[in-house]
Formats: sequence, C-alpha cells, structure tokens
Amino acid sequence: MARVVLGMLGLGTVGSGVVKLLAQHKHLQLKKIAVRDLAKERATTTTCPVTTDVNEIIDDPEIEVLVEVMGGEEPALTYIKRALEKRKHVVTANKEVLAKHGPSLFALAREKGVTIFFEASVAGGIPLISTIQRGLGANQFKAVTGILNGTTNFILSNMEERGLSYETALAEAQALGFAEADPSADVDGHDVAYKLSILAALSFQRFVKPTDIYRQGIREITPEDLALAKEFGYRIKLVGTARSTNSTNDPNTKPNAEEKSLAVRVHPTLVPLSHPLAAVSGSNNCILVTGDAVGEIIMVGPGAGSLPTASAVVGDIINLESALKLPDFASYFQPSITSQWSNTASSDDWVSPYFLRLSVADTPGVIGTIGTIFGNHKISIQSIIQRGVKDGRATIVILTHDVREGDMNAALTDLKECPFLDSVASAIRIYRAG
Ligand code: NAP
Ligand code: HSE
Repeated sequence: MARVVLGMLGLGTVGSGVVKLLAQHKHLQLKKIAVRDLAKERATTTTCPVTTDVNEIIDDPEIEVLVEVMGGEEPALTYIKRALEKRKHVVTANKEVLAKHGPSLFALAREKGVTIFFEASVAGGIPLISTIQRGLGANQFKAVTGILNGTTNFILSNMEERGLSYETALAEAQALGFAEADPSADVDGHDVAYKLSILAALSFQRFVKPTDIYRQGIREITPEDLALAKEFGYRIKLVGTARSTNSTNDPNTKPNAEEKSLAVRVHPTLVPLSHPLAAVSGSNNCILVTGDAVGEIIMVGPGAGSLPTASAVVGDIINLESALKLPDFASYFQPSITSQWSNTASSDDWVSPYFLRLSVADTPGVIGTIGTIFGNHKISIQSIIQRGVKDGRATIVILTHDVREGDMNAALTDLKECPFLDSVASAIRIYRAG
C-alpha cells in the first residue's frame, strides 16, 4: 500500500488520540508533530519527532497532508492557509476556523486543487458531515437540530443525575478532555454556533456568520430549573437548530418570514422526556436531520473526547488516502460551499412554548395580573403553579402554549414593571417539533 505522509499541529486531547489510532495504520506515516511546549507532560508517548517550529511541517515538501488539531482561530487559520497554498490537503477538527473563514478557505483549496476534510469539527465521533455530504446527498434539507456540544450535555446530565454543581461538572468535563481550551466557548454556546454555521453550509449551501446566530448558553441553568422541568415531564438540553424558512408551512416562523433565510439558533431547551434528545446523557451528541426524501433520521454517539474525535480525524485521513489514488479528485470531494453568507430570520418570529420561573411577592392578585399581561400579548397559559412560599415571597412556574418570541419579550417587559415581581429567574423555550 502506498505511504501517505502526514504532519500534525497539536498533541493535546485529539492529537494524542490520533497518534494512538495511527499506530494501527502503518502506511499512514506521521512524520512530525508541532506543539507549543516541548517540556509539557503528555498522555501519549510517540516515536514521531515533536517540534515547536510549525515551519518544519508546512515547508516540508514530503508532507502531503496537514492534520490540524491545535484549535483556535489564530495562528491555526494562517497555518491552514499556508498549507493549502503549498498544495497540501488539510484534515481539521477546528470548527471555529471553518465557521469564521470557511468560504475563503474552501475557495483557496479549490484554487490549489486540494481538499479540506473536517468530519471531527462537528459532533466528534459521529459521522455526521459525511452523512449529510454524501449519504443524504439526494435530499433537500429542512432542518438539522440537536445536541451538538458534549461538554454542556455532560454538565447538564451530571447536575441532574449526580447532583453535581455546575462548577464541579465543568471541571470534570475539562479533566476528561471534552471542553475547549477556553470552556466559555462551550458553556456560552459559541461552539454550537460554529457547528451550526458548518451544518448550514452543508445542508443549505450558505454559511451563517457565527455572530448572526442567536446564542444563549447554560450558565444560568440552576438545579431548581432542572428539577422543575423534570416534574413537568421535561429535561433541559442545549439544543442547536438550523432550519430553512423558505417553506411557508414552516411551523416555527410566521408564513411571511423572509424568503430564503435560515433560522439558526442555540439555547437551552426543555425537551419532553419521551423525545430521543432527552435520553442523551454525558458527552454524547444527538442530531436529527430532516430531508425531503429520507424524512427524519437520528444520529447519536460520542460528541467529544480523545479517541471518538480521533476516529473522525483518522477516518478522514483514510478517505483522503483512497482519494489520493484518483486523478484530480479534489474538486469532487469539496463540499459545494459558495462564498455566500445567509440571512438569518428575525428572532421575533420564532414560535415555541415557554417555561418561566418567576420570583414574586406572595400577595393577592399576582396570578391574576400575570394572566392579564399574558392575555394582552396573546399568550395562552398551559399550566401555572406556585411553590416555595417563604417570608412573603414565592416561586411561580408557568408553562405556556406556543408563543411568538416578540410577544413573549413584550410580556416580560410589562411583567418587569410589576411591583410584586422580584425577578424573572428563568425563561426557557420548550422544544417544538416540525
Ligand atoms: P488541546 O487538548 O488544548 O490541544 C491543543 C494542542 O495544540 C496542544 O498540544 C498544544 O500544544 C497545541 N498548540 C496550541 N497552540 C499551538 C501553537 N501556536 N503552535 C503549536 N502547537 C500549538 O485541544 P483539543 O481538545 O485536542 O482540541 C483540538 C481541536 O479539536 C480544537 O479545534 C477543538 O475544537 C477540536 N475538537 C476537540 C474535541 C475534544 O473532544 N477535545 C472534539 C472535537 C473537536 P501544547 O500541548 O504544547 O500546549
Ligand atoms: N468542546 C467540544 C464539545 C468538543 O464539548 O462538544 C467537541 O466538538
């Protein structure tokens, strides 16, 4: 079998997994690895030379494939560009770089006749990218939605199942190698926004700027929210969605929503306990892909971690190795990504039921006033309870029927003017299929 010569940037969680897996594929020759700090203790030992000089890899004409598993926007972007310029193929796990610079990077790869493989950039070990690119290639996609971040799913699951505090659960996720170098990328939803941008590019042929994606993370989710959600028959998950709003039948937007725009968002969501997303625990991811021909398919599996992510990286290298035998294959392997950026639909038009937790004074007329305010904004209450009465204060939990986002925001503004209200402690959307 012909040798493929690789150079790798990064020997952290993912890079260590790649080294382990490559040991089983001797014809894939890892020639050199670049790291930041040679003195650092490593989880994996390797006989491959390690350097801090990235040029030793990028300028080496024998290296055909650059494996980029160092992460972050810069200097990773510069190194990927330089490798493409030198007509090296790139295999990357870096969703941030692809989400922010995908159109120009894919254009450069096309110009140079090389490819960028990026299976590990979304949903870790789940072969989601190749499924959308190839297996489901016959479909017009309607939506891609699901749990796309292992760290936050690990945190929420462990807060609920083991009663861990948010901080302890996050520390465990970091120790297990699931979290990004800066874990605010996980807990504030940036990581999911990057992944949604890539998924939108593949499913809807348009990148969405991560800054245009509605984003809310999990920092504010409390054990009380998790317990109350369960009592009402739900589990709280960080759910990301990219949905075409072209169809006037789309139940999540008004019929007159702007043509050809996408609704792309990430936020905590109450998922019914009977829904497949609710059963996904730990660092697993779960993605529902809806195509016009296939209907809905569900993929579940490890969304982060050393070997699961390395499985995707080395799978890419093996696919690339087969393709390298074909003449002029690169143009067939590049996803059909244009340099077009998409419009995103106005968030005011999103529709979903809501879970609200209000901290109020326990005085007469409170529930009546809340009902009046909600009625004024066309919000129908499905369920309302009062809890935890202590020292003249109480918690009110409300589940609504479908609400237009703009109406909910207007009602909350009115509610905040009420003297009985201490705070809107939580306002979390409830999952809505369709
Ligand atoms: P990590 O554990 O922090 O490892 C990063 C590696 O890159 C380290 O070996 C570091 O060197 C090296 N590095 C960083 N900056 C460098 C520089 N300027 N020059 C040379 N080397 C540099 O990160 P990771 O978790 O493996 O993640 C890597 C990438 O995979 C990221 O894009 C991440 O989003 C993505 N990803 C991660 C997972 C996961 O589960 N962890 C899953 C899917 C995708 P030192 O070791 O010397 O510091
Ligand atoms: N930090 C990411 C996560 C790694 O927790 O999902 C996988 O992309």
